[in-house]
Order: sequence, then structure tokens, then C-alpha cells
Amino acid sequence: MNSAHNRVAVLHGVNFDVLERRDPEVYGGLSLSELERWIQAAARELGMEAIFFQTNAEGEFAEYLHRAPELADAIVINAGAWTHYSRAIADALDVARLPAVEVHLSDVENRDDWRKESVFDGLVLAKISGKGPDGYREALERLAGELGVAT
Ligand code: DQA
Repeated sequence: MNSAHNRVAVLHGVNFDVLERRDPEVYGGLSLSELERWIQAAARELGMEAIFFQTNAEGEFAEYLHRAPELADAIVINAGAWTHYSRAIADALDVARLPAVEVHLSDVENRDDWRKESVFDGLVLAKISGKGPDGYREALERLAGELGVAT
């Protein structure tokens, strides 16, 4: 049992397993494992510990969120395209009842109109987009403040 309340579950949704094959102009060309290593380093600098999950199956993503309170104290969520239409994932995040920040590598406010919509509105402390990997650091900082993690 970790009593520090510093565990952050970093969740990636559909198509993040092939991140390095997605448009490098938009997503930067890095792989998910490179991104996760970068996030873990940022988390440790902030006195936090990250755990990672990715799936292309919506039901598995929901089931992970159901288990999240046993595994983590906070959530960073990048659900990919599900962000824009999956009420099921939004409901599952609501069930988790953990402080959460939504992150997008790309600038979803300035791409296709449908990407401006997020099912997580009202469920997350903040939505950070268009900052690449730095957006995850910002999310972790926000959650460290929320959890009272001292660095
Ligand atoms: C994304 C933005 C989404 O619109 C897109 O469907 C993704 C990635 C991002 O990180 O920029 O899969 O979540």
C-alpha cells in the first residue's frame, strides 16, 4: 500500500499503440514507449509515480477506469478519438471519482471542428492540448498540486 497519494494512471486510448506511424507534423513522430518514458521522468521529478495503460478496445478502457481507484490517486487521460464521442468512456471516468486532467498532443481546438468537442467537459480539472509531451508535464504539475505532493 502506497500512502503517499502520488500515483498517477496515464491512460492512452485508440491508435496510440502506433503513435510513431501517425502524422509526425501533428504528433511529433515519437513512439508511445518513448512518450511514456518521458512522462515517467517528468512524474518522478515532481515526486510522483506514473503507471501506464493503452488499449484500442473501448470496453477495456472503461474496465481499466473502473479499477483505477485501486491502482492510482489521479488520472491523466488522452482517449484519442473517443474523446470526441464516447459517452461510455465519460461515464466510466465519472465512476473512477479521481482527480483527472485531459491531455492531447495536438491542438484539438485548431484542427477539425469535431475535435473541439470533448465528452470529458465538467469531469476533468483541466484540458491541455497542443503542447506535445510538455502538456503531460503540465497535467502532472496540476495533479501534484491537487494531491498535495511535495517535491
Ligand atoms: C489526440 C487528438 C484526437 O483528436 C485524435 O483523435 C487522437 C490524438 C491528441 O493527442 O492530439 O487520436 O487525442
